[in-house]
This record gives sequence, structure tokens and C-alpha cells, in this order.
Amino acid sequence: MSTVRDWAAPNPVTENRSGLIGKPVDRYEGRLKVTGAAPYAFEVETPAPPLYGHIVSSTLAKGRITAIDTSAAAAAPGVVLAWSHLNVPAQAARGTRLNPRSQRASNPALESDRIEHYGQSVAFILADTPENARAAGGLVRIAYAAEDADLDFLSSLDSAIPAPGEEDARVGDFEAGYAASQVTVDGTWFSPLQNHAQMEPCATTAWWEGEKVVVHTSIQMVKGGQHALAETLGIPSDRVRLFTRYIGGGFGGKGQSYDDLTLAALAARESGRPVRVAYTRQQMFQATIHRPAVQMRVRLGADRSGRLNAMALEAVTHCARNAPFVEHAASFARNLYAAPHRLTGHRLVLLDIPHAGAMRAPGEAPGMLSLECAMDELAEKLGLDPIELRIRNEPEVDPDNAKPFSVRQLVRCMQEGAQQFGWSRRHPTPGAVRDGRWYVGMGMATAIRGNFLLPAKAGLRLTGDGVATLTQGMTDIGTGTYTILAQITGETLGLPLDQVRVELGDSEMPPAPGSGGQFGAATAGSAAFETGMVMRRRLAELATGDPRSPLYGEDPTLMDFANGNIVLGNRSDSLAALASRAGPEGVYVEGGISPAADARDWSQHTYGAQFAEVGVDSVTGEVRLRRMFGVFAAGRILNAKLAKSQITGGMIWGVGAALTEANVVDPRDGSFLHQDLGGYLAPVHADIVNLDAVLLDEADDKANPMGIKGVGELGICGAGAAIANAVYNACGVRLRDYPLTPDKVLAALEAKGL
Ligand code: MOS
Repeated sequence: MSTVRDWAAPNPVTENRSGLIGKPVDRYEGRLKVTGAAPYAFEVETPAPPLYGHIVSSTLAKGRITAIDTSAAAAAPGVVLAWSHLNVPAQAARGTRLNPRSQRASNPALESDRIEHYGQSVAFILADTPENARAAGGLVRIAYAAEDADLDFLSSLDSAIPAPGEEDARVGDFEAGYAASQVTVDGTWFSPLQNHAQMEPCATTAWWEGEKVVVHTSIQMVKGGQHALAETLGIPSDRVRLFTRYIGGGFGGKGQSYDDLTLAALAARESGRPVRVAYTRQQMFQATIHRPAVQMRVRLGADRSGRLNAMALEAVTHCARNAPFVEHAASFARNLYAAPHRLTGHRLVLLDIPHAGAMRAPGEAPGMLSLECAMDELAEKLGLDPIELRIRNEPEVDPDNAKPFSVRQLVRCMQEGAQQFGWSRRHPTPGAVRDGRWYVGMGMATAIRGNFLLPAKAGLRLTGDGVATLTQGMTDIGTGTYTILAQITGETLGLPLDQVRVELGDSEMPPAPGSGGQFGAATAGSAAFETGMVMRRRLAELATGDPRSPLYGEDPTLMDFANGNIVLGNRSDSLAALASRAGPEGVYVEGGISPAADARDWSQHTYGAQFAEVGVDSVTGEVRLRRMFGVFAAGRILNAKLAKSQITGGMIWGVGAALTEANVVDPRDGSFLHQDLGGYLAPVHADIVNLDAVLLDEADDKANPMGIKGVGELGICGAGAAIANAVYNACGVRLRDYPLTPDKVLAALEAKGL
């Protein structure tokens, strides 16, 4: 095994002499956002007054358009054009690639008379105002020939197929090991279909500059969107310039582009005017992806000392018939617990509903809602504290592949969490603690989520005013990317934060993979760091090679950077002066990062322990969060405030998963029952009380030069399970059907005679 690293320590970030790394500085773009001065994709200034597009969506799940008449819509006030599959401009056939290196294939809109799910685009209206476009959309006359559609997940479980390209992961002989176990748990959990419900709907503003289209759109991956549009239009990607500067929430739902992008570009070309297109809130639920429902069977077998002997987690999930997607709800178990006999795998039910896809911590988020509750049940059967059970099963190396952990502080997370939360006050007997009409209980669960680094680049310019501007084709989906990149750049160059600018979200900037899989901070941040180091070397060479510099003739490798200066002993030159002397453009460098040669020799994850205290209303069955606390380990933390905000935001998602969030497929037409934020119940402020998180000191020197990891998805992992375990501890009711709504809780309490 190679342990040679491509990077050396210490470095300016790990030394952190200006203290910018880890500092809880405010969001770089915070003022712009709260004053409304940060233009989102639908709001950017256009070179001429824009037109507005409205997408008309299908109202059935499966079938064919037999007739469509857009003439009344086309004649309506203010309407510029009305398209259906009969007259939409030519686009590349679905799934084709003009350029084999394109990251995404073509994705045409209004491509045919086929309807594959409710909410699919069937017509498009362009008008002078959004109101006129939407009103005209109501005048499109459509006749459908409906076909039988498979819409119900649970009644279709028998039709489940193996997840494409995957085999079950088997270690030992699960069935025999389970049968031979002294203590067992066997349960089936259900996590429902969920929606991202981002504040900002998907939206695009587009215009053409000659042969080139300029689009501002809300997407997590700059290159993905640029390539998808180029392929769909059948033009080289350098004729698409894509901006995505501010994004009002992504969560995986904006990992891809949708028809707003394609239709805005086509309509801008056809009309010769800038065009804005946004999905309505209602359309967002079905025109974009969702997290599929997941059914999970967990079987655990242990000896009386609590050592796991057998572990199975089998997940069945759904996706659209022609858009395969697997919610990998079982995978995390492979890295979390060791048992000599194991079985994990995924099955897929194909339905005629909108496309399933990635949503915050895909896999772990629903998956941990089952196994971490099964562990709680096992602990109870063994008469062990749930934390003690997990400590007894803490592996020495990654159980999946026997690789050493880069760092794994899971036990420390549990122990520190227990202490700070007051876990010792938990009464092990369910129903033992009452507060008036409320049953009160505590629960815990672990959290695990992977850590990845992808190749990324960045550009850095130092100008004569002493300002360093980092440019990167990266996105900030509300997570804090702008801010952490400024901190890294400032610390690397020895510049105060007010001398650092960050520009993101332009396909003509050095590329980064975007925001997803909680890889953004480590990936984009490492590229920014490496680029800063390139700039340091360049500046050192400029200074020591320039007779006008006080540092002329010195060894460039001895230079230090602090307070806007390049320094050697008691001599210094200012970065502003160096950049001025370099010319009117100052100094520009590019740099980048790729995974270390031995990156795959280590098991790299982020970890945490979640603790919840809930009250269960003995009269109404309502579950209320009383306290929630988590301890997490995720490498070096770049910004204490933003990292905690990401983690607690994830924990709040876990509260939603446990207690409120679910969508339901309407069996009549394949629509989703909830299509607004009144019906789709994500937690609001009143639901969240006394929720806090702590991040442990950690530096993962196997992860990247700065030893950082991601936090965007860790917080949701295990959060819901801690709440479900607390519900059991409160009232003695084990509910495996999420969310734990009052109707289910009340029925279970009544069934117990409570
Ligand atoms: Mo994410 S759900 O990997 O953007």
C-alpha cells in the first residue's frame, strides 16, 4: 500500500497564522442576499426587456397526446409563441452526445407525443408578461389516450428487479449466521417519497449573443448544465455560457437541468429577445426529481454479549420506468458495523411516476432510519445501553474492505454527545417519564456519510489594489462556498478577508465539479488552496527576481506571506506593489487538485452521534421535539458558524423525515398529493426548539492538503432514527412507518391500551 502523499504539511492553512481557518465569519454574500441584491437566475439583468415563458404540464401518468391545439393560446393577449411537440424547434435526440466528453447527454423538451409521468412538459407559451403566458397556457387544448400506469410502490413490490449493475453484498453466510444468533431483531421499515422543496424553484434567464447563448440558471453543476444544453441544442459547448451565481437551495434536486433551461434557450433564439422561464411551486414537485420511497428489511443477530453475528439490510426503492435511479439505502451499513455474516442490497420497482433522484444524503438519509432503530431494539433485547452496544461493535478497520480508517471518531462522538446531552438521565424503561399529559423520552443514533474529493481547478488574480480574486466554475447552493473559498484564499496569501473576492458559477471559469455528495468544500476548497500556493510561488519569484523589490536576489523558497506583504526577516514588499509592477492586469495563476494517488487506500468518512428528546402527547399522539443535540467529526472545520449551520440544517431535515415529511402518489393520475409548502410539511421554526451541534477537533490528513471534509449531508444522517428511538423510549411504541404522524402514534398507543 502506498502512503506517499502528493501534498506536504504543514502549510499556511494548517498553520493558520491569521486565524481565518475555522473562524465563524459571516457569509461572504450574506448582505447581498438579505437585501435582495443577489440576483437569482430569474432576476438577472437582461440586455433587453425580457419575455416570459410558461410550461404547460401533463395531467396524466402515462399515455399519448392524440391531439393538441395551441391556436387559442397563440392568439391570446401578449403571446409571442406557443409550442407543443408538433412545432417545437429541432433538438438532438434524447441521450445523444455530439461530444463524447460531454458530462451530460441531450435532454430535449416537448420531444414527442409520449407521456411518461404526470407533470411532464407538453406545451410552452412565450408572452410579454408571466401572467399572460400562464393565462394562455390554460387555453392549450389537449386530448390524451391514457394507458394503464403502475403507480403504487407497495403493491408492486413483487415486481422488484435487482438494482442494475449491482449484486447483493454478501459476507459469510447470513442466513446460517442469523439462525445461529442468540438474540435477533427482524423488522421492516418504510420511508416515504420526499421532495426537496427548495425555496427557489428551478428557473432560467437566457439570451443569445450571435451564435452563443448566455443562460443564467439554478443548477448545482456548472459543466453538467452547460453540456446538457449544448448537446440538446446540438452545438459545441463553447457556444453555451452558463451562469449559476446564486442558488436558493439545491439538495440534489438541482444536480441536473430541466426543461426551463432548454425552452428558455430555444425561445430566446426564436424570439430574438431575452427569455425568463420558471417552474411554478406546484410544478416543482413533479417536473423535478424526488427522493423515492424506500422499504427496508433489517435483520440483526447477536450473541448475548452484544456482538453482532449477522446483519442484513435489504432495501427496495422505486424509480421512473425510463430513468433508472437507485436510492442506496443499504450501502452505509457496510462501512458502519462489522458482523461475520452480512447481507446488503438494493431492489428497484419501476413505476410510471416522475423521476426519482438524489436528495440530501441519498442512501444514508432514509437508510439510517431503519438500521439505527433496529440497533436500538437489539440493545433493548440485550439489556444494553444503545451506545454500549455500538461501542462493542466498533470495528478496527472498515468492515467492507478491511482498509484502515483515515480517522474515525465515532465512539468519541457518542461519548461526548452522551455527556453533553445528559444521556445518563435517560430512563431505560419506556413510558417511565411523564410531564403532564406528555410521555417524555430520549433516543440516539449514529451518523455516517462518505467523503470524496474530485478533480477541480481554480483561477486567482492579484491586482494592483492588493485584492486577490478567486474565480471558479463552482456553485454555492446556500452552503457557504463563497465564504470558505475567501477564507482559504486569505489564509493562503496572508491577506485580510476584505482584500479577497470570490467569483463563482460561470462555465468560462476554471472548472469544478459543483455542489453534491458533500464533496464541495473539500474539492473546491482544495483547488483554491493549491491555486493560492501557485500564486505564492509566482509572487516569490517575481519579488526575488525584480531589482525594484527589497527582496531582490533572495531565495524565493524562504518567503513568508502576512498582512498583505511578502516578507523575509525584516524586509518586505507589498502584494499590491508586486501586482502593480507586473502590469495592468496584475498577476494571474491557475491551479488545481486531484485525488491523491493513495486516496483509495483509506476508508474516509464523516461521523456523528445524534441525540433527541421528545414529548409524545398521550391524548393526541403528537410528537414534539423537546431537545436535539449532535456531535460530529468531519475533518478540519473551515468556518465554525457555517459548518454548524449545515449540520443543524441537516438535523432539521431529520426531524422532518421522522415526523412530518411525506408525499403520496395519487392513484388516479400519478400526481403527488402535496404540491405546495402548506401541504408538504417540512419543519418550520415552531417545530424546532433547542437544537444544537458540536463539531469535534479533527484533521484528516488523508483527505486533502487541508485535512477538511464535507458537512452538507452528515447532519441528516441518523437524525430521524434518534427521534424515532426517543418516541419509543417515551411511550413504548415502535413505529416503523415514517413519518410518525399523530394518527399512527395515537393508533399505536390505543393498541397498547394507553
Ligand atoms: Mo447531492 S443529494 O449528492 O446534491
